[in-house]
Amino acid sequence: MCGIVGYIGPRHVKDVVIGGLRKLEYRGYDSAGIATLSNGQISVVKAVGRLGNLEDKLLTEAVEGELGIGHTRWATHGRPSDENAHPHQDCSGKFAIVHNGIVENYVQIREELLAKGHRFQSETDTEVIAHLMEELYNGDFAGTVLAVTQRIRGAYALVVMAKDDPDTLIAVRKASPLIVGLGEGENFIASDIPAILEYTRDVYVLDDGEMAIVRRDGMTCYPLDGATTVAELHPVEKEVLHVTWDAVSAERGGFQHFMQKEIHEQPKAIRDTLTGRLDEDLQSVALPELSWTDESLQAIDRIHIVACGTSWHAGLVGKDAIEKIAKIPVEVDVASEYRYRDPLVTPNTLVIVITQSGETADTLAALRDSKQKGLRVLAITNVVGSSAAREADDVLITWAGPEIAVASTKAYTTQLVTLYLLAAYLGQARGTLSSDAKAEVLGALAGLPTVAEQVLDAAPRIERFAKDYQEARDTFFIGRGLDYAVSLEGALKLKEISYIHAEAYAAGELKHGTLALITDGVPVIALATQTHLYEKTLSNIKEVKARDAFVLGLTWAGDEELKKSVDEVIYLPRTSPVVAPIVAVIPLQLLAYYAAVVRGNDVDKPRNLAKSVTVE
Ligand code: AGP
Repeated sequence: MCGIVGYIGPRHVKDVVIGGLRKLEYRGYDSAGIATLSNGQISVVKAVGRLGNLEDKLLTEAVEGELGIGHTRWATHGRPSDENAHPHQDCSGKFAIVHNGIVENYVQIREELLAKGHRFQSETDTEVIAHLMEELYNGDFAGTVLAVTQRIRGAYALVVMAKDDPDTLIAVRKASPLIVGLGEGENFIASDIPAILEYTRDVYVLDDGEMAIVRRDGMTCYPLDGATTVAELHPVEKEVLHVTWDAVSAERGGFQHFMQKEIHEQPKAIRDTLTGRLDEDLQSVALPELSWTDESLQAIDRIHIVACGTSWHAGLVGKDAIEKIAKIPVEVDVASEYRYRDPLVTPNTLVIVITQSGETADTLAALRDSKQKGLRVLAITNVVGSSAAREADDVLITWAGPEIAVASTKAYTTQLVTLYLLAAYLGQARGTLSSDAKAEVLGALAGLPTVAEQVLDAAPRIERFAKDYQEARDTFFIGRGLDYAVSLEGALKLKEISYIHAEAYAAGELKHGTLALITDGVPVIALATQTHLYEKTLSNIKEVKARDAFVLGLTWAGDEELKKSVDEVIYLPRTSPVVAPIVAVIPLQLLAYYAAVVRGNDVDKPRNLAKSVTVE
């Protein structure tokens, strides 16, 4: 996902823009650039690779001025290169633009502009915006931006600077997030809050279809609403969002990597997500954010959970919890499939989208499709003000705080906590949650922060295991029931940051093919937390041991049986098997983390991946 930073004010624009881009590195990128305006001239410097390459260039190609824009690019159209990096300019050098998203009709526009004599420097879709600005420019900066937004199709965030308007930056949001940071005699534009936290805590979150005209002394925001002239634009008052994060919470906090910090933040994240939702005597769940009437609660006849990646894995656990506790049938689907399979729904189907970033393109598309069908959509997301949070009918925020590492950890466990709370909330509303079940579930949830702390105490031992995986090429995770759902997440964690091939299998499926791959020393991680499936899981473990696999088992503290059948055991502090996924996943997160560290990988920004996939 690309990162955008804009600044207008008295500070040295290079420092503000480059510093802001550094805080957005977590979004994943392959090139970067900056444009500044000084003495009536726009200067642009771009470099493929890490920000350090851009900074090296800036040692000799100095940029000056008090107005500027910067960009970190995650390639969609056009390979990573200096030329394809943003900012992009028009032929005359009158404009510079940065963009996050896709111009879906760029080929047609590019051909039209080429026929009119425009010369392109890059292979990108974005560059057509700069030349379109030049083509449509009539001396009115805002009017030209408005005209351009009427020509281009797609989802984007756009920031433009113009040589003729040295006191103005114009930002447009259409699906990809943009915020305006409010300062004293200075203002900021960014894709995300960490980029500007050093300077201000007060931000405006642009809504979809809004244009912001930003100057030193303030910002005016206009809903585009199909306006064709500036005269048709009417400013709106925006609510200021006061950000409570401190700068440190978006930094590493003393850990070696963001991922390590975020794994260790899970007890707090779980506690924060429970706060205000579990009453003191554990007799009830409150979800005041939901606007559901009792009638609408009773009417829900099925639930579709839709998500991607780790969030999809959370949905699999959510299915089990909701079906067992609330007795509502649940389907779980990956968003990229759901949106094209024309799912069978009824007017009382509740669609739940789970998305840490709130910006994943496929998940948002499923959300929008569902709303177009008139279905009620609940979003479970970690980002206040995200597209999912703003477009869903209801939102449950996972209070995990900023998750910077590409590999999702605390967002996953807080998604699970939220899904358990939702299941209990539905169960208590529909009368399917017995007092015993309520005591078990709510009691287990309340105890989770402490249990998570205890699991984290085992981190040094898991670091030693990880060294055994240094040379591994293939690893298999096996489990039954909820242990299978957690195995999927453990496998994804390991492969996405250590680059070791890992597969998760329902333990009972091994003999239907995969067992052929189990030979001497092949690492197998076996989860055995589901008491009612323990014996069956044990027999599957013996199947792989009989083929000389190296088996690392996960089970509850006090289990004296498993160690007889495996090579190593990780013991989990006892809690209810219902919430086992939250406890069992933490050692798997740590295993993946340490395996990546020992292999010298870029743990927080693994190759080819982005923190949020905002394009299809
Ligand atoms: C998780 O470790 C991955 N980085 C990835 O699978 C992620 O969960 C997926 O892209 C969905 O992102 P979202 O939750 O922000 O929608």
